[in-house]
Amino acid sequence: MQKVISRRKKTIRDIDVRDKRVLVRADFNVPLDENGAIEDDTRIRASLPTIRYLCERDARVILCSHLDRPKGVVVERLRLALVANRLSVLLDRPVAALQDCIGPEVESAVAGMSGGDVVLLENLRFHPEERTDDPAFAEDLARLADIYVNDAFGASHRAHASIAGVPEHLPAVAGLLLAKEVETFTRILQDPERPFAAVIGGAKVSDKLEVLENIISRVDLLIIGGGMAATFLASRGYGTGRSHVETDSLDDVRGISATATERGVRLLLPRDVVVAESLEAGTRARVVPAAEIPDDRIIADIGPAAASEFCRELGDCRTVVWNGPMGVFEIPEFAEGTRRIAATLATLHGTTVVGGGSTADAVTRFGLADRMTHVSTGGGAALTMLAGKPLPGVEALEDTEEP
Ligand code: 3PG
Repeated sequence: MQKVISRRKKTIRDIDVRDKRVLVRADFNVPLDENGAIEDDTRIRASLPTIRYLCERDARVILCSHLDRPKGVVVERLRLALVANRLSVLLDRPVAALQDCIGPEVESAVAGMSGGDVVLLENLRFHPEERTDDPAFAEDLARLADIYVNDAFGASHRAHASIAGVPEHLPAVAGLLLAKEVETFTRILQDPERPFAAVIGGAKVSDKLEVLENIISRVDLLIIGGGMAATFLASRGYGTGRSHVETDSLDDVRGISATATERGVRLLLPRDVVVAESLEAGTRARVVPAAEIPDDRIIADIGPAAASEFCRELGDCRTVVWNGPMGVFEIPEFAEGTRRIAATLATLHGTTVVGGGSTADAVTRFGLADRMTHVSTGGGAALTMLAGKPLPGVEALEDTEEP
């Protein structure tokens, strides 16, 4: 069986951070609304335990992050000052926002820090060298600190300079958020309490093939929903109306079904679906059996019978990992399938792990995020872990001496 993570990595608890200059790579890539204000500060809040831990030990905390994809140029609305302001409120201490992330002015600001001070460097992606993992840029960042901490789980699938380059120059350990994320995914993939189920949804099956291929050999039950169910249904000869079927993925999907049969894994597809003329609010929708999808309709959600079956099956599970909504949950008419899965997991007597991105948005929207064992802060990073692939940001960290 493929290994998820080679060894246990050192964390900030394994080294002496007292009075040190500590460069913390966080993932402050938060959604902004149309006025440029922070729409959801979950990722900022998730970084607080590591920052507090360091401040309590009089470390000088130098935070850095990207925000959005400014493509190597300064974009005023993507400056990190707004994150610094929010952090300052949450930490109840000043957080200085610097005007750049490298260079003499940054170096002199850092030189003037005292124990327990916190600064936030400017958006790393204002420099094109961040994304190309430029060695000189990584060295300029590393020069600011004595220790490097990666707490940016959500960005750890990117081999960028602040993720993969800086650890070549400094003692490099995991922050508390990164450690928790990696441990959670590793535990459920390697040693889950059984029965173990995966609920996989979302629009495109091609985005999730590696995940499906990895987890099919680990789970007892695999539930498929969302737009991608159309490709599974089509692979079994069902008509799927105007739903998007990824014809290039049909053979892969058949392979996953075959592996499920070989390994005795129960693979459930929706027995009924909500179909609509278009995926827009206010459009006419109705429930039909999966075998009777009209030619001119699109699948918008799983149907009530499918939701009941999925929820009943999940109720017996001791571990559930969920990635991808069951329908277009942003539109109330198509949210019911996703809401029912979320409600079932919220009351499950077992471990419930929700992948980041839109699945995390859904459980937050339903007010159920606090009822899950773990809601990941990573979208692509969570998918990479579920696919059983190494994260460059984790691989770059120091191993513990444990065998
Ligand atoms: C995310 O939002 O998934 C991370 O912050 C990574 O962002 P990216 O996809 O722009 O690299």
